[in-house]
Amino acid sequence: MPASPGAPIRYACVTCGKTFESAGVVYRCPDCARRPEDAHGFPTGCLSVVYAPPGGKRMDKGGAADIESFLPLPMSRRSAFPAGATPLIAPEALRKRTGFANLWLKNDAASLSGSLKDRASALVAEQALAAGEDRVVLASTGNAGASMAGAGAACGLRVILFVPAAAPRAKLLQSLLYGARVVPVQGTYDEAFSLSIAYTERFGGINRNTAYNPLTVEGKKTVSLEIYNQLGCRVPDSVYVPTGDGVIFSGACKGFADLKTAGLADRVPEMNVVQAEGSNAIVQSARSGRQTVIASARTIADSLSVRRPAAGSMALRFLSETGGRAVQVTDVAIQAAQAELAHSAGLFVEPSSAAAWAGFLQDRQNLDPRSTVVVLLTGTGFKDVAAAESLVSLPPSCPSELESATRFLSEHYHIQQG
Ligand SMILES: Cc1ncc(COP(=O)(O)O)c(C=O)c1O
Repeated sequence: MPASPGAPIRYACVTCGKTFESAGVVYRCPDCARRPEDAHGFPTGCLSVVYAPPGGKRMDKGGAADIESFLPLPMSRRSAFPAGATPLIAPEALRKRTGFANLWLKNDAASLSGSLKDRASALVAEQALAAGEDRVVLASTGNAGASMAGAGAACGLRVILFVPAAAPRAKLLQSLLYGARVVPVQGTYDEAFSLSIAYTERFGGINRNTAYNPLTVEGKKTVSLEIYNQLGCRVPDSVYVPTGDGVIFSGACKGFADLKTAGLADRVPEMNVVQAEGSNAIVQSARSGRQTVIASARTIADSLSVRRPAAGSMALRFLSETGGRAVQVTDVAIQAAQAELAHSAGLFVEPSSAAAWAGFLQDRQNLDPRSTVVVLLTGTGFKDVAAAESLVSLPPSCPSELESATRFLSEHYHIQQG
């Protein structure tokens, strides 16, 4: 795919299969957009960018992936907002405890704004610049907004952000500090989503809503291209992805699918969705074989809290194509997983990311312990200190004097000196 400015991009509709090319900004399939939506099913007409290797020539199996050549737009601001390039961690204690010697943690909590969302924001910023737009509008549970606000600040774009008023405070403050116009909405994320679309339809600007803008899946696919390169140009056997709307999951799946289309890989991993029990529309749908919208979503993992997943159809398709499983975990398991990642791997992630670790722990009896497994950690814990406060509490203060400190350590941590 030639990533040249202004070149048309080829899209395929996930619902009806229509393919078409456009050099402009497109969101939904024009045919599906004309039909009424079923509010009891997942959104229809999501578009997927069609990848073809440059010059139509398949690459040699096992070669390194040149990540930018997989994207539909040139990354002209890569040095201003270098999203991605996050570490793939070999967690020694967790490998030992679980018996999985080839276990890896892909730590996107280390990305610029603290979440994997930067991968999509960087590409949408390019889309806005290429279209001559100076304004990006979006709805977010918090991380996508903060990420787009950061990318906007780095690339000279204005960002208007609709978020549920109940989103973690640090995510809102972070967005404001980057300069975004933040609109805390009295309602759910699903309501903020509809409001942001109504806003762009009336007043213009690029809409970055997850799944609604097809470039969000494209940006997020870079995580899989990186994993492939970091594993020495190999595809893992299983991947666990924390899932709400299903865009990170679909992006991760598409990255591996594109590697196969390119000829670099000859298979894709088994891709597993992990959802919170209180926000499990995709899990319910995968198990029943019928798209299921839930009445309301409630979980400690606020980033996964979605009633009607925007990329639900795409995620279900990838789940079945890759032979992955749909796993749901309780909030209690998520909290235990958050604590374990912190004290056994030195990683402070937000509850959504911890859900992926909880999902792997729960599902691992289905895996060969010799297999290569990647657990995707998508967001930092620093933005949701309230969630961490339910795991630990600050001890009282201690006088600055050795005798008192010795007594303090003995009383609070049972450390006896001498
Ligand atoms: C840190 C983090 N992890 C996971 C997710 C879930 O991603 P998706 O909604 O694409 O399934 C989000 C979404 O906001 C997120 O911010």
